[in-house]
Amino acid sequence: MISDNFKIIGDISLPGDKSIAHRVLLLSAFIKGQHTIQNFPNNEDVFATLLILNQYGLNYYLNDDSIDIDSCNISFKDSEIDCNESGTTARLMCGYLSGLNINCIIKGSESLSKRPMSRIVNPLREFGVDIDCNNGMLPIRIKKTNKIKTQFNYRLDLPSAQIKSAIIFYALSIDAESSIEGKIQTRDHLELLLSYLKYPIKMNNKQILIKGNHKISNNLNINLPGDISSASFLIAAAILLKDSNLIIRNICVNPHRMGFVKQLIKMGAKIRLINKRQHYGELIADIKVEHSMNLVGVVVEETDVPSMIDEIPIFCVVAAFSIGRTEIKGIKELKHKESDRITAIIKNFSEMGTDIKHTNNNLLISPKKKMYNTSINSFNDHRIFMSFYIANLVLGQFYSDKLEDNCYRKSFINFIEVMQKVVCEKF
Ligand code: S3P
Repeated sequence: MISDNFKIIGDISLPGDKSIAHRVLLLSAFIKGQHTIQNFPNNEDVFATLLILNQYGLNYYLNDDSIDIDSCNISFKDSEIDCNESGTTARLMCGYLSGLNINCIIKGSESLSKRPMSRIVNPLREFGVDIDCNNGMLPIRIKKTNKIKTQFNYRLDLPSAQIKSAIIFYALSIDAESSIEGKIQTRDHLELLLSYLKYPIKMNNKQILIKGNHKISNNLNINLPGDISSASFLIAAAILLKDSNLIIRNICVNPHRMGFVKQLIKMGAKIRLINKRQHYGELIADIKVEHSMNLVGVVVEETDVPSMIDEIPIFCVVAAFSIGRTEIKGIKELKHKESDRITAIIKNFSEMGTDIKHTNNNLLISPKKKMYNTSINSFNDHRIFMSFYIANLVLGQFYSDKLEDNCYRKSFINFIEVMQKVVCEKF
């Protein structure tokens, strides 16, 4: 069933990590000065954060793949901000702006306005912020208050890096040491960046301790490593298509983001991390991927899901082309992404003829002997689009440039160009 028409060949680099980029931008506003971010990912989500900071007076100059930032004149006034489609922008801004004690309204696109926000509004309200939202969703209103900000000890019930980072950004504004405990084992880019900048933050498996009101004096000059979430689409194509051989250079392989690769290796995929090194506190590596025959289905436990939360759709695609059943447990958070990803995955797979079931918060994928090409039902969700783009490629349909849907621009601006570069027609 896997097409023999195409293979993936190349030695490539990818745009900078989206999660790190949001955090570096916010830090570049926190540290008044002149900063440079290289390998800046020009995607729509990161731009949402950049344009909001620009509204407050952060100036920027975009070069080919870097950005120069001048935040010397930034000043946070009463305002209304638009996060467009970016959930990370909305949640991180919520924590960041709550710490500044200004009046602010946080808005977003129609689809972002359907995503849950009480997960960040409730803790901030507990800490004394005058904040509310619209039945758990946007718009969020933050009001100036005279209450003194006090240190807090917060227990996270949801393994969400967006909530954790938003709370850390808020803690930066408190004149004492705050702590976060509970489900903190998620991507820790902000913690690593702050440690790298010698900010007083301490973390272990159980707790993050952060002192507020400390100045950072160094200007940022950061070269962002490539995004493992973008790389995952190329990794999937390369392991599935015969005769493929791909190297993806300079990727952030933060252990909290490696669930997808870890599961693929368990299934029998030939993936190697080479040239491992440390950069700005993050682990970076080149990823070498080869076509891998006879991948076998696996059981993904609920505790493994946070480290592959954005990769579940493309992981399901790999599972559909493997031998035997794959089960992914505890996937309810997928309902709250850019689309209801459970519905989107099931709809696309059903049209392709794959056997996929959603029961008790688990997904079951049983590979079929025959699957069919379809048009991609993206639900305006970048990761659904790219996942089913790869599924179609594996089935012999290469959508090279005939596409109207460009929702991939949200996270992977040059996805189509990269695919055009690495996909080789065999006959
Ligand atoms: C992100 C965290 C994850 C992820 C999102 C980016 C981040 O969301 O799905 O794409 O940059 O912190 P949750 O915090 O909701 O798990």
